[in-house]
Amino acid sequence: MGMNRKKRLLLGSCVCFVLVAGCAANEQELHYRELSEQEFSEKDAQHEEENHTTEESGNEKSNQQPVIENDGNTTTINGIVVVNKKYGVPADYAPGEDPTASAALHQLIADMQSLGLDISQDYSGFRSYETQADLYSSYVNAYGQEQADTFSARPGYSEHQTGLAYDLKHTNGMLVENETEAQWLLDHADEYGFIVRYQEGKEAITGYVAEPWHIRYIGEEATDIKNSGLCLEEYLHIE
Ligand code: DAL
Ligand code: ZN
Repeated sequence: MGMNRKKRLLLGSCVCFVLVAGCAANEQELHYRELSEQEFSEKDAQHEEENHTTEESGNEKSNQQPVIENDGNTTTINGIVVVNKKYGVPADYAPGEDPTASAALHQLIADMQSLGLDISQDYSGFRSYETQADLYSSYVNAYGQEQADTFSARPGYSEHQTGLAYDLKHTNGMLVENETEAQWLLDHADEYGFIVRYQEGKEAITGYVAEPWHIRYIGEEATDIKNSGLCLEEYLHIE
């Protein structure tokens, strides 16, 4: 399969195509875009191993210095827990589903359902380090590491390990991708304290393809983030 894809890319395909749904480790169906090579630089795909306890902002567009703290488990930046390709969590960090986030999620799902939107009670929430390791490894086996890194976090670097992130599904069990539900989330998830974490146009910053189904609990500041039009990394002036 890797050979075929490479061949296709070599033959001049430089546009994104919606490809296949993958299913692994009983966790979730995966829809993802096959990326053009331009969409991700090598830098974006790189994985950084370190957890930092303090660090100065590398953002050149702002003089703001983010306040970066690490309590031994999570990195909090300006009061917001951050997990991305740079900031990870320890393998033994397993808080389970965050109760506040979980309550907000259930309210969001109930409200979507009462509006007649196609949303399931079923979702993928907290994932342990081991579960993420199995998932990531299955994707690497199926698609190769470079491709896997564009849609799956490496173990220890998934927001799902914090218990603050959820993948929403349609009633047919597929991850939310339909325009109506995806747009509703973009417009209203913040009212429940969530942001749509990986959006189109931000791939080179987040390091991941757009995931209309992945919402991340922030709290009240979610509305400021949404209204800013920035992804979390931009909003916090971090990498
Ligand atoms: N799909 C997201 C990036 C994760 O694996 O956490
Ligand atoms: Zn997710």
